Amino acid sequence: MSGSGYELVQLKNGTWSVRSVAEGETFHPVIGPVAEAEALYVRQLRLAERFASAPGEFVLWDVGLGAAANVLTALRAVGGIAGRIRVVSFDHTLEPLRFALGAPDRLEFIAGFEPALEQLLAVGRAEFRHGAAEVRWETHLGDFPSLLDSAAAATCPAPHAILFDAYSPARNAAMWTRPLFARLRELAGTDCTLATYSRATILRTTLLLAGWFVGAGHATGEKEETTLAATRRELLAEPLPTAWLERVRRSTSAEPLEEPVYRQAPLSAVNWERLLRHPQFVPAGP
Ligand SMILES: C[S@@+](CC[C@H](N)C(=O)[O-])C[C@H]1O[C@@H](n2cnc3c(N)ncnc32)[C@H](O)[C@@H]1O
Repeated sequence: MSGSGYELVQLKNGTWSVRSVAEGETFHPVIGPVAEAEALYVRQLRLAERFASAPGEFVLWDVGLGAAANVLTALRAVGGIAGRIRVVSFDHTLEPLRFALGAPDRLEFIAGFEPALEQLLAVGRAEFRHGAAEVRWETHLGDFPSLLDSAAAATCPAPHAILFDAYSPARNAAMWTRPLFARLRELAGTDCTLATYSRATILRTTLLLAGWFVGAGHATGEKEETTLAATRRELLAEPLPTAWLERVRRSTSAEPLEEPVYRQAPLSAVNWERLLRHPQFVPAGP
């Protein structure tokens, strides 16, 4: 372990990942950083296709920069396509990235990006070319929920895709509240999709009650299912059907967190009524 508070851990399949000692959380804990980033974010958000057809700059928000495995895997996926990509990364610490940069032999996703990462660590932004793609990457260092609530958030370019990779809600409740996802929805453009690793009922009710459309995401090896959210229903391959509401009714953990304190509760009557009125479950008019 380094003095940074992060360490390398070898997963069962032999790949290496980064672990926060203080949080007791391993990043991408089962199939490893690159495989998870590809399955969960690159393929599900159809990053390459959407980047290829973007009329202008394609904007990617990276919530929980960590060791940058998600972003670097995304950049590799679009490197063969001519276009401009803007990456906006958020985290309250750059220590996992600094740590990862010191371990390129074990963390293969770092290879080739060292100069850009050095620059990002030094000045908070980097501009470079990766293959045919022109990359502008900036980091916003600080508490993400507070940043979203500040006027500065509205000056960030609206995202087309969001990689949402905070620690688990039990440890990191502030990153999973309904007000946070409602603010994200306000800031997202009209054509935005968000992917995250959880399939929990509470996550899905939170996203719906924050104004997103929500669909099932594919298995990643780590989870039998994940979650995709979108600003428009048409952006989802598998929107949650009305039958999914039965699961909400039975769940003992479906009430969104209004505050950054983790607790589990069945959905309240008022939120149940709101959910039934969500356009995702209301048949389109004639
Ligand atoms: C699972 S790790 C992210 C791994 C990363 N996406 C990668 O590819 O390596 C979660 C990250 O969320 C960050 N985080 C947790 N709470 C935060 C907060 N309140 N504000 C900003 N970042 C936060 C942590 O510092 C950590 O780097």
